[in-house]
Formats: sequence, C-alpha cells, structure tokens
Amino acid sequence: MYDFKIQAADTASMYRDLASALEGLVAGEPDPIANMANAAALIWETLPDLNWAGFYRNLDGELVLGPFQGRPACIRIAFGSGVCGVAAAARQVQRVEDVNAFPGHIACDSASASEIVVPIVRDGELIAVLDIDSPRTARFTEEDEAGCVKLGDILARVL
Ligand code: SME
Repeated sequence: MYDFKIQAADTASMYRDLASALEGLVAGEPDPIANMANAAALIWETLPDLNWAGFYRNLDGELVLGPFQGRPACIRIAFGSGVCGVAAAARQVQRVEDVNAFPGHIACDSASASEIVVPIVRDGELIAVLDIDSPRTARFTEEDEAGCVKLGDILARVL
C-alpha cells in the first residue's frame, strides 16, 4: 500500500504533489490498466468533493469503461455522446460547471453536478479520457484544469 497523504496549502501545490506522486506510482510500470487503476485511486484519495474518478479507454473508436473509483458507471460511450464522448471526438478538455446544462450529458450517477474530462493523446492517437465528477456545481476551476491536463500528460506516456 502507498500512503501519500497529500495535504498541500493551495491548489497549485496540491497538483504539483499529486503529479509527482503519480510519476512515482507509474515509474517503470508498463501495464496500462495497472497505471489507470492507481491513478484513479490517487486522484480519488487526493482531490476533495468527488463522486467519481476514472477512465474510459478508446477501443476501436468507442469509449469503454476502465479503472475507476466511485459508483458503477455506464460501460460504453460513443464518440460525440455525453461529456466524455465530446472530449474524445474533439480531443479537447471539457470542463462543465453544471452537467444538467450540458446537452447530452450521460448521468451515470445522479449525484454528479460538475465534471471535467481530459483526453489522453499519445503520438496523435486518443488512448483514453480521464473523467472526474463532483457533486458540487462548478467544482473544477481553471487551476484544476491545468493540474488535470498535467496528470493526463504524465499518463499519456504510460497508457
Ligand atoms: N457523465 C459522463 C458519463 C460518464 S460518468 O460520469 C462516469 C458523460 O456525460 O460522458
């Protein structure tokens, strides 16, 4: 068991600590599922106010549920559908302050109020998306987005 206990004074240093913990966890491990599983657990343990954190993998042009923490979720999402599918199709981060106002949002857990989805791209190929949900509206700020993009960059090398 790894006990990281990240308790940073501010959001930027929390993401710095989170990124270096993630670097340490994935270092030398080539298995993508193991790395996604530990990344989901680390994010879940570290970021406050979450109800879901995990991955959808790009399997032949369809998003398929990967390792996560939180309640059981929908298994397959088409590109272009919901927040994850839009992030995958556009290859752009989706930071949604109010999921109920997002056309086509897929409500896997009715507790979700806001969400951020980060595409993970390596050598021009979409590998997966990192999806993080919160029960608090507008939970994710620009600072969270920058921090999560950094996590996605680390993961792109090891998924
Ligand atoms: N809300 C997502 C679906 C995945 S769950 O949140 C885990 C979406 O709209 O794509």
